[in-house]
Amino acid sequence: MLEGKRILLIVSGGIAAFKSLDLIRRLRERGAEVTPVLTRAAEQFVTPLSASALAANKVYRDLFDLTDEAEMGHIELSRAADLVVVAPATANLLAKMAHGLASDLASTLLLATDKRVLVAPAMNVRMWEHAATKRNIATLRGDGVLFIGPDEGDMACGEYGPGRMAEPMAIVDAISAALMDGPLKGKRVLVTSGPTHEPIDPVRYIANRSSGAQGSAIARALAALGAEVVFITGPASVARPMGVRVVEVETATEMAAAVDAALPVDAAIFAAAVADWRMVSAPASKIKKDGKGSLPALEFAENRDILASVAQLENGRPHLVVGFAAETDDVIENATAKRLRKGCDWILANDVSPETGIMGGPENAVTLISEAGAESWPRMGKDQVAAKLAAKIAGVLA
Ligand code: CTP
Repeated sequence: MLEGKRILLIVSGGIAAFKSLDLIRRLRERGAEVTPVLTRAAEQFVTPLSASALAANKVYRDLFDLTDEAEMGHIELSRAADLVVVAPATANLLAKMAHGLASDLASTLLLATDKRVLVAPAMNVRMWEHAATKRNIATLRGDGVLFIGPDEGDMACGEYGPGRMAEPMAIVDAISAALMDGPLKGKRVLVTSGPTHEPIDPVRYIANRSSGAQGSAIARALAALGAEVVFITGPASVARPMGVRVVEVETATEMAAAVDAALPVDAAIFAAAVADWRMVSAPASKIKKDGKGSLPALEFAENRDILASVAQLENGRPHLVVGFAAETDDVIENATAKRLRKGCDWILANDVSPETGIMGGPENAVTLISEAGAESWPRMGKDQVAAKLAAKIAGVLA
């Protein structure tokens, strides 16, 4: 299934590097051509000879070996692959990637490549949970870097927790998924997701109960069909999807600006639960009690309806614009009217009454409303709703 695919495999220095030899073997068994690159530290764990023998290929180790451009320059090496894989990716290499350093061959290749990059982090649990690593991971996700793992379990250093490199077969699966040519290949799709937070003052905000689960699942399903996905999310509680470009925002105003910046797109899916109002001007200092029991007067302004503004664009309107309608009463009537009012092509209507358990829950029961009428889908997992929607979108765009 990986027949003829070229993988540039960067191995950095961690105890998990020994598993990379198995990864090379399994990739080659599936027909992939593997070019290994070892960092200096990786050579403490695996030898260039073993990597070269298993890959049946030259192993690259030194930036200055490549300065003789007559052989193969680092730019060419970084681009002569279908996918760049970093396994294991140490905290150090992730930090270099996040900051754009090019201090050795591995980091230079990662900076120079124009191909997708999949990383399999491996490090001590404290290093994985360190704020600096979290910042770096968020930056890399935003850059569109794909992640697999790490797994949770006993670690070579004697501690327990997340930090173990994903197993080679899981990495092979992630590589196959990243290389898949789906029906949405070459299509650019935008997905908004999660709640927005509208500040009242520096410590308080208005929010809603959206977890971002449905929006994340839709972004994942679209990416799995090969779409280039721009995922614009408010402060959602669920993990960010892999294989997509993640743009983190807080307020509705920031979300609107991020959507404008992401255009043009072939399709836009508005799954975010955007706040309808924001404070006219949130004070820079915390609002204090006045001691007399009187309530502070909060003045609100309406947020721009992002869905409606994109659906009604005169120039550069996406081919397909999809909105959501979270209703508690007269779901289909309200959602049908909302589709016409907002000018979008499809509305996915759902009943978010508390007794349905849909908002924040794992399942969804939606009705797809289009010009053709209303089509009710049975209650199913949010991942299944996402897959069904992505397939329908592919039917329109492909
Ligand atoms: N939406 C948006 N920008 C906003 C508000 C909503 O993009 N400022 C999008 C949501 O992402 C969703 C759709 O509009 O796809 C429906 O949101 P909803 O809040 O239900 O619509 P409202 O017009 O606010 O409807 P109502 O007042 O009836 O709840």
